[in-house]
Amino acid sequence: MNGYNVAILGATGAVGSRLIDQLAQSTIPVKNLKLLASKRSAGKILQFKGESLTVEQTTVDSFKNIDLVLASAGGEVSKKFLPIAVEAGAVCVDNTSAFRMDPDVPLVIPEVNRNALKKHHGIIANPNCSTIQMVLALAPIRQKFGLKQVIVSTYQAISGAGQAAWQELLDQTKQHLYDKPMTAKITPVKGAAKHYPQAFNLLPQIDVFEKDGYTHEEWKMIHETKKILLDDMDSPDIKVTATCVRVPVEIGHGESIYLVTADKTATVSDLHTLLATAPGIIVQDEPAKQLYPQPLTATGKRETFVGRIRLDEENPGAFNIWVVADNLLKGAAWNTVEIAECLVADDLM
Ligand code: A2P
Repeated sequence: MNGYNVAILGATGAVGSRLIDQLAQSTIPVKNLKLLASKRSAGKILQFKGESLTVEQTTVDSFKNIDLVLASAGGEVSKKFLPIAVEAGAVCVDNTSAFRMDPDVPLVIPEVNRNALKKHHGIIANPNCSTIQMVLALAPIRQKFGLKQVIVSTYQAISGAGQAAWQELLDQTKQHLYDKPMTAKITPVKGAAKHYPQAFNLLPQIDVFEKDGYTHEEWKMIHETKKILLDDMDSPDIKVTATCVRVPVEIGHGESIYLVTADKTATVSDLHTLLATAPGIIVQDEPAKQLYPQPLTATGKRETFVGRIRLDEENPGAFNIWVVADNLLKGAAWNTVEIAECLVADDLM
Protein backbone atom coordinates (compact mmCIF):
# COMPACT_ATOMS: atom_id res chain seq x y z
CA MET A 1 0.00 0.00 0.00
CA ASN A 2 1.59 3.27 -1.06
CA GLY A 3 -0.85 5.39 0.88
CA TYR A 4 -4.52 5.87 1.69
CA ASN A 5 -7.12 8.21 0.26
CA VAL A 6 -8.47 9.95 3.34
CA ALA A 7 -11.54 12.16 3.80
CA ILE A 8 -12.16 14.43 6.79
CA LEU A 9 -15.88 15.02 7.27
CA GLY A 10 -16.43 18.28 9.20
CA ALA A 11 -12.98 19.62 8.25
CA THR A 12 -13.84 23.26 9.04
CA GLY A 13 -14.96 22.65 12.63
CA ALA A 14 -13.13 22.96 15.95
CA VAL A 15 -12.32 19.23 15.92
CA GLY A 16 -11.94 19.12 12.12
CA SER A 17 -9.03 21.57 12.12
CA ARG A 18 -7.27 19.40 14.73
CA LEU A 19 -8.01 16.25 12.69
CA ILE A 20 -6.09 17.87 9.81
CA ASP A 21 -3.13 18.68 12.12
CA GLN A 22 -3.08 15.31 13.86
CA LEU A 23 -3.30 13.47 10.53
CA ALA A 24 -0.37 15.55 9.24
CA GLN A 25 1.71 14.48 12.28
CA SER A 26 0.56 10.83 12.19
CA THR A 27 2.22 7.67 10.86
CA ILE A 28 -0.64 7.17 8.36
CA PRO A 29 0.60 7.36 4.77
CA VAL A 30 -1.82 9.77 3.06
CA LYS A 31 -2.03 9.57 -0.74
CA ASN A 32 -4.82 12.13 -1.11
CA LEU A 33 -6.79 14.12 1.42
CA LYS A 34 -10.34 15.31 0.76
CA LEU A 35 -11.77 18.00 3.05
CA LEU A 36 -15.55 17.84 3.42
CA ALA A 37 -17.97 20.20 5.16
CA SER A 38 -21.40 21.73 4.49
CA LYS A 39 -22.36 23.85 1.49
CA ARG A 40 -21.50 26.95 3.57
CA SER A 41 -17.77 26.16 3.52
CA ALA A 42 -17.42 24.85 -0.04
CA GLY A 43 -14.50 26.61 -1.71
CA LYS A 44 -12.70 27.53 1.51
CA ILE A 45 -8.95 26.85 1.39
CA LEU A 46 -7.22 24.93 4.22
CA GLN A 47 -3.61 23.75 4.59
CA PHE A 48 -2.36 20.15 4.93
CA LYS A 49 1.42 19.58 5.14
CA GLY A 50 2.04 22.90 3.37
CA GLU A 51 -0.41 22.12 0.58
CA SER A 52 -3.55 24.22 -0.06
CA LEU A 53 -6.70 22.10 -0.27
CA THR A 54 -10.20 23.27 -1.23
CA VAL A 55 -13.08 22.29 1.04
CA GLU A 56 -15.89 20.48 -0.78
CA GLN A 57 -19.59 20.21 0.02
CA THR A 58 -20.42 16.71 1.29
CA THR A 59 -22.65 14.69 -1.05
CA VAL A 60 -23.47 11.00 -1.45
CA ASP A 61 -20.75 10.86 -4.13
CA SER A 62 -18.00 12.28 -1.89
CA PHE A 63 -16.73 8.86 -0.75
CA LYS A 64 -15.86 7.17 -4.06
CA ASN A 65 -12.26 5.80 -3.88
CA ILE A 66 -11.92 6.88 -0.25
CA ASP A 67 -10.17 4.34 2.05
CA LEU A 68 -10.48 6.13 5.38
CA VAL A 69 -13.02 8.66 6.71
CA LEU A 70 -12.41 10.67 9.88
CA ALA A 71 -15.78 12.17 10.81
CA SER A 72 -16.71 15.01 13.16
CA ALA A 73 -19.62 16.88 11.61
CA GLY A 74 -22.37 15.98 14.09
CA GLY A 75 -24.41 12.83 14.67
CA GLU A 76 -27.01 13.39 11.97
CA VAL A 77 -24.34 13.95 9.30
CA SER A 78 -22.54 10.75 10.36
CA LYS A 79 -25.79 8.77 10.33
CA LYS A 80 -26.51 9.97 6.80
CA PHE A 81 -23.08 9.65 5.20
CA LEU A 82 -21.02 6.97 7.00
CA PRO A 83 -23.11 3.99 5.84
CA ILE A 84 -22.68 5.34 2.29
CA ALA A 85 -18.92 5.62 2.81
CA VAL A 86 -18.73 2.04 4.17
CA GLU A 87 -20.78 0.80 1.21
CA ALA A 88 -18.24 2.52 -1.06
CA GLY A 89 -15.41 0.60 0.67
CA ALA A 90 -14.11 3.03 3.28
CA VAL A 91 -13.34 2.43 6.96
CA CYS A 92 -14.78 5.25 9.09
CA VAL A 93 -13.65 6.51 12.49
CA ASP A 94 -16.53 8.54 13.85
CA ASN A 95 -16.15 11.20 16.52
CA THR A 96 -19.92 11.65 16.99
CA SER A 97 -22.29 9.69 19.22
CA ALA A 98 -24.24 8.34 16.20
CA PHE A 99 -23.01 4.72 16.38
CA ARG A 100 -21.36 4.46 19.81
CA MET A 101 -23.95 2.17 21.35
CA ASP A 102 -24.37 -0.03 18.27
CA PRO A 103 -23.25 -3.52 19.41
CA ASP A 104 -21.50 -4.01 16.03
CA VAL A 105 -19.46 -0.82 16.42
CA PRO A 106 -16.31 -0.93 18.59
CA LEU A 107 -15.95 2.02 20.96
CA VAL A 108 -12.22 2.44 21.33
CA ILE A 109 -9.51 4.14 23.37
CA PRO A 110 -6.38 2.54 21.89
CA GLU A 111 -4.48 2.44 25.21
CA VAL A 112 -7.42 0.64 26.85
CA ASN A 113 -9.20 -1.67 24.37
CA ARG A 114 -7.28 -1.70 21.10
CA ASN A 115 -8.26 -5.36 20.60
CA ALA A 116 -11.91 -4.36 20.09
CA LEU A 117 -10.87 -2.90 16.70
CA LYS A 118 -10.65 -6.45 15.33
CA LYS A 119 -14.46 -6.72 15.47
CA HIS A 120 -15.16 -3.69 13.27
CA HIS A 121 -17.53 -3.79 10.30
CA GLY A 122 -16.46 -0.51 8.73
CA ILE A 123 -17.31 1.96 11.49
CA ILE A 124 -15.33 2.53 14.69
CA ALA A 125 -16.66 5.01 17.24
CA ASN A 126 -14.55 7.48 19.16
CA PRO A 127 -15.93 7.79 22.72
CA ASN A 128 -17.21 11.05 24.20
CA CYS A 129 -14.42 13.47 25.16
CA SER A 130 -15.16 13.35 28.88
CA THR A 131 -15.38 9.53 28.83
CA ILE A 132 -11.98 9.12 27.14
CA GLN A 133 -9.87 11.00 29.69
CA MET A 134 -11.70 9.39 32.63
CA VAL A 135 -11.48 5.81 31.35
CA LEU A 136 -7.83 6.27 30.36
CA ALA A 137 -7.06 7.00 34.03
CA LEU A 138 -9.41 4.34 35.44
CA ALA A 139 -8.32 1.42 33.22
CA PRO A 140 -4.87 0.79 34.77
CA ILE A 141 -6.34 1.15 38.29
CA ARG A 142 -9.08 -1.33 37.47
CA GLN A 143 -6.60 -3.78 35.95
CA LYS A 144 -4.43 -3.85 39.09
CA PHE A 145 -6.89 -3.27 41.95
CA GLY A 146 -10.37 -3.89 40.49
CA LEU A 147 -12.99 -1.16 40.29
CA LYS A 148 -16.38 -1.17 41.99
CA GLN A 149 -17.68 2.38 41.73
CA VAL A 150 -17.02 5.73 40.03
CA ILE A 151 -18.59 9.11 40.89
CA VAL A 152 -17.49 11.89 38.53
CA SER A 153 -18.14 15.62 38.30
CA THR A 154 -16.90 17.31 35.14
CA TYR A 155 -15.76 20.87 34.41
CA GLN A 156 -16.05 20.94 30.61
CA ALA A 157 -14.61 23.51 28.22
CA ILE A 158 -16.84 25.41 25.79
CA SER A 159 -14.91 24.22 22.72
CA GLY A 160 -16.68 20.89 23.21
CA ALA A 161 -19.86 22.65 22.12
CA GLY A 162 -18.27 23.73 18.82
CA GLN A 163 -16.68 26.81 17.33
CA ALA A 164 -19.86 28.92 17.37
CA ALA A 165 -20.35 28.35 21.11
CA TRP A 166 -16.76 29.49 21.79
CA GLN A 167 -17.40 32.65 19.75
CA GLU A 168 -20.59 33.26 21.71
CA LEU A 169 -18.70 32.97 25.02
CA LEU A 170 -16.18 35.56 23.77
CA ASP A 171 -19.03 37.88 22.75
CA GLN A 172 -20.75 37.43 26.14
CA THR A 173 -17.47 38.17 27.94
CA LYS A 174 -17.03 41.42 25.98
CA GLN A 175 -20.68 42.38 26.63
CA HIS A 176 -20.26 41.81 30.37
CA LEU A 177 -16.98 43.76 30.54
CA TYR A 178 -18.64 46.70 28.75
CA ASP A 179 -21.69 46.61 31.08
CA LYS A 180 -24.02 45.41 28.34
CA PRO A 181 -26.60 42.63 28.79
CA MET A 182 -25.20 39.27 27.76
CA THR A 183 -26.97 37.57 24.84
CA ALA A 184 -27.24 33.78 24.52
CA LYS A 185 -28.49 31.97 21.44
CA ILE A 186 -26.42 28.77 21.67
CA THR A 187 -25.22 28.14 25.24
CA PRO A 188 -25.79 25.80 26.99
CA VAL A 189 -27.14 23.67 24.12
CA LYS A 190 -27.78 24.64 20.51
CA GLY A 191 -31.48 24.24 19.68
CA ALA A 192 -32.64 24.05 23.31
CA ALA A 193 -35.81 25.91 24.37
CA LYS A 194 -33.86 28.24 26.69
CA HIS A 195 -30.39 29.76 26.56
CA TYR A 196 -28.24 31.19 29.36
CA PRO A 197 -24.95 33.09 29.30
CA GLN A 198 -21.89 30.89 29.77
CA ALA A 199 -19.51 33.78 30.49
CA PHE A 200 -18.81 34.19 34.24
CA ASN A 201 -21.22 31.33 34.77
CA LEU A 202 -21.51 27.55 35.31
CA LEU A 203 -24.15 25.60 33.41
CA PRO A 204 -25.01 22.10 34.67
CA GLN A 205 -26.42 21.07 31.31
CA ILE A 206 -24.42 19.47 28.52
CA ASP A 207 -26.59 17.95 25.79
CA VAL A 208 -30.34 17.35 26.25
CA PHE A 209 -32.12 16.08 29.37
CA GLU A 210 -33.21 12.45 29.60
CA LYS A 211 -36.48 11.45 31.30
CA ASP A 212 -34.65 10.43 34.50
CA GLY A 213 -33.22 13.93 34.97
CA TYR A 214 -29.69 13.10 33.81
CA THR A 215 -28.34 14.91 30.75
CA HIS A 216 -27.39 12.89 27.70
CA GLU A 217 -23.70 13.75 28.34
CA GLU A 218 -24.00 12.16 31.80
CA TRP A 219 -25.76 9.14 30.24
CA LYS A 220 -22.89 8.83 27.75
CA MET A 221 -20.24 8.86 30.49
CA ILE A 222 -22.05 6.11 32.39
CA HIS A 223 -22.82 3.76 29.52
CA GLU A 224 -19.71 4.36 27.38
CA THR A 225 -17.50 3.60 30.41
CA LYS A 226 -19.27 0.25 30.88
CA LYS A 227 -19.07 -0.58 27.15
CA ILE A 228 -15.33 0.19 26.96
CA LEU A 229 -14.28 -1.49 30.21
CA LEU A 230 -16.79 -4.36 30.40
CA ASP A 231 -18.03 -4.74 26.81
CA ASP A 232 -21.60 -4.26 28.09
CA MET A 233 -23.18 -0.78 28.19
CA ASP A 234 -25.55 -1.83 31.01
CA SER A 235 -23.21 -3.97 33.10
CA PRO A 236 -23.84 -3.62 36.87
CA ASP A 237 -20.24 -4.71 37.62
CA ILE A 238 -18.95 -1.15 37.91
CA LYS A 239 -21.36 1.45 39.30
CA VAL A 240 -20.94 4.78 37.51
CA THR A 241 -22.68 8.10 38.05
CA ALA A 242 -21.89 11.55 36.64
CA THR A 243 -22.67 15.27 36.87
CA CYS A 244 -21.49 17.24 33.83
CA VAL A 245 -20.97 20.99 34.03
CA ARG A 246 -19.92 23.46 31.33
CA VAL A 247 -17.38 26.07 32.50
CA PRO A 248 -16.13 29.24 30.76
CA VAL A 249 -12.81 27.67 29.72
CA GLU A 250 -11.78 27.54 26.06
CA ILE A 251 -10.00 24.16 25.88
CA GLY A 252 -9.40 21.35 28.39
CA HIS A 253 -11.93 19.39 30.43
CA GLY A 254 -11.32 18.88 34.16
CA GLU A 255 -12.83 15.95 36.06
CA SER A 256 -13.06 15.32 39.77
CA ILE A 257 -13.33 11.53 40.04
CA TYR A 258 -14.15 9.51 43.17
CA LEU A 259 -13.31 5.86 42.61
CA VAL A 260 -13.71 2.77 44.78
CA THR A 261 -11.33 -0.12 44.14
CA ALA A 262 -12.10 -3.78 44.93
CA ASP A 263 -8.72 -4.23 46.64
CA LYS A 264 -8.93 -2.25 49.89
CA THR A 265 -5.14 -2.29 50.37
CA ALA A 266 -4.38 0.06 47.42
CA THR A 267 -2.38 3.14 48.48
CA VAL A 268 -1.81 6.61 47.04
CA SER A 269 1.76 5.57 46.27
CA ASP A 270 0.47 2.51 44.35
CA LEU A 271 -1.77 4.75 42.21
CA HIS A 272 1.10 7.16 41.58
CA THR A 273 3.39 4.38 40.39
CA LEU A 274 0.68 2.78 38.28
CA LEU A 275 -0.48 5.96 36.56
CA ALA A 276 3.07 7.26 36.02
CA THR A 277 3.85 4.24 33.83
CA ALA A 278 0.44 3.98 32.11
CA PRO A 279 0.45 4.82 28.38
CA GLY A 280 -0.90 8.27 27.47
CA ILE A 281 -0.88 9.55 31.08
CA ILE A 282 1.34 12.11 32.79
CA VAL A 283 1.10 12.40 36.58
CA GLN A 284 1.31 16.00 37.85
CA ASP A 285 0.89 15.65 41.58
CA GLU A 286 3.22 17.56 43.87
CA PRO A 287 1.09 19.59 46.31
CA ALA A 288 4.19 21.06 47.99
CA LYS A 289 5.14 22.61 44.64
CA GLN A 290 1.53 23.45 43.71
CA LEU A 291 1.84 21.08 40.77
CA TYR A 292 -1.49 19.81 39.47
CA PRO A 293 -3.19 19.47 36.05
CA GLN A 294 -4.83 22.55 34.54
CA PRO A 295 -6.69 23.16 31.26
CA LEU A 296 -4.23 25.89 30.20
CA THR A 297 -1.20 23.64 30.60
CA ALA A 298 -2.93 20.61 29.01
CA THR A 299 -4.00 22.53 25.88
CA GLY A 300 -2.27 21.30 22.75
CA LYS A 301 -1.03 18.08 24.42
CA ARG A 302 -1.99 14.56 23.42
CA GLU A 303 -1.56 13.17 26.95
CA THR A 304 -4.06 13.04 29.82
CA PHE A 305 -2.86 14.62 33.07
CA VAL A 306 -3.66 13.20 36.52
CA GLY A 307 -3.08 14.83 39.90
CA ARG A 308 -4.55 15.51 43.37
CA ILE A 309 -4.45 11.75 44.08
CA ARG A 310 -5.86 11.33 47.60
CA LEU A 311 -7.15 8.45 49.70
CA ASP A 312 -10.60 8.87 51.22
CA GLU A 313 -9.36 8.50 54.82
CA GLU A 314 -12.77 7.21 55.95
CA ASN A 315 -13.15 4.64 53.20
CA PRO A 316 -10.18 2.31 52.50
CA GLY A 317 -9.74 1.60 48.77
CA ALA A 318 -11.54 4.81 47.77
CA PHE A 319 -9.67 7.69 46.13
CA ASN A 320 -10.19 11.17 44.73
CA ILE A 321 -8.29 12.08 41.57
CA TRP A 322 -8.29 15.16 39.27
CA VAL A 323 -7.96 14.49 35.55
CA VAL A 324 -7.43 17.05 32.76
CA ALA A 325 -7.02 16.60 29.00
CA ASP A 326 -7.31 18.65 25.83
CA ASN A 327 -10.89 17.77 24.85
CA LEU A 328 -10.21 18.55 21.19
CA LEU A 329 -7.10 16.30 21.05
CA LYS A 330 -7.22 13.20 23.31
CA GLY A 331 -10.95 13.80 23.70
CA ALA A 332 -11.51 13.96 19.95
CA ALA A 333 -9.03 14.48 17.09
CA TRP A 334 -5.98 12.68 18.51
CA ASN A 335 -7.95 9.64 19.75
CA THR A 336 -9.63 9.45 16.30
CA VAL A 337 -6.31 9.61 14.42
CA GLU A 338 -4.70 7.24 16.96
CA ILE A 339 -7.48 4.70 16.22
CA ALA A 340 -6.74 5.10 12.50
CA GLU A 341 -3.00 4.59 13.14
CA CYS A 342 -3.84 1.34 14.98
CA LEU A 343 -6.11 0.17 12.13
CA VAL A 344 -3.22 0.65 9.70
CA ALA A 345 -0.58 -0.89 12.01
CA ASP A 346 -2.81 -3.89 12.87
CA ASP A 347 -3.71 -4.52 9.21
CA LEU A 348 -7.41 -3.85 9.86
CA MET A 349 -8.11 -1.36 7.06
P1 A2P B 1 -19.47 24.10 8.05
O1 A2P B 1 -18.25 24.83 8.53
O2 A2P B 1 -19.61 24.17 6.57
O3 A2P B 1 -20.72 24.44 8.80
P2 A2P B 1 -18.24 22.50 14.93
O4 A2P B 1 -18.49 21.27 15.75
O5 A2P B 1 -16.99 23.22 15.31
O6 A2P B 1 -19.45 23.40 14.91
O7 A2P B 1 -18.03 21.98 13.41
C1 A2P B 1 -19.00 21.23 12.72
C2 A2P B 1 -18.43 20.74 11.40
O8 A2P B 1 -19.43 19.95 10.73
C3 A2P B 1 -18.08 21.85 10.43
O9 A2P B 1 -16.99 21.46 9.63
C4 A2P B 1 -19.35 21.96 9.60
O10 A2P B 1 -19.16 22.53 8.32
C5 A2P B 1 -19.66 20.49 9.45
N1 A2P B 1 -21.07 20.29 9.04
C6 A2P B 1 -22.17 20.78 9.62
N2 A2P B 1 -23.28 20.40 8.94
C7 A2P B 1 -22.85 19.65 7.90
C8 A2P B 1 -23.50 18.94 6.84
N3 A2P B 1 -24.83 18.95 6.70
N4 A2P B 1 -22.72 18.26 5.96
C9 A2P B 1 -21.39 18.25 6.09
N5 A2P B 1 -20.72 18.88 7.08
C10 A2P B 1 -21.43 19.56 7.98
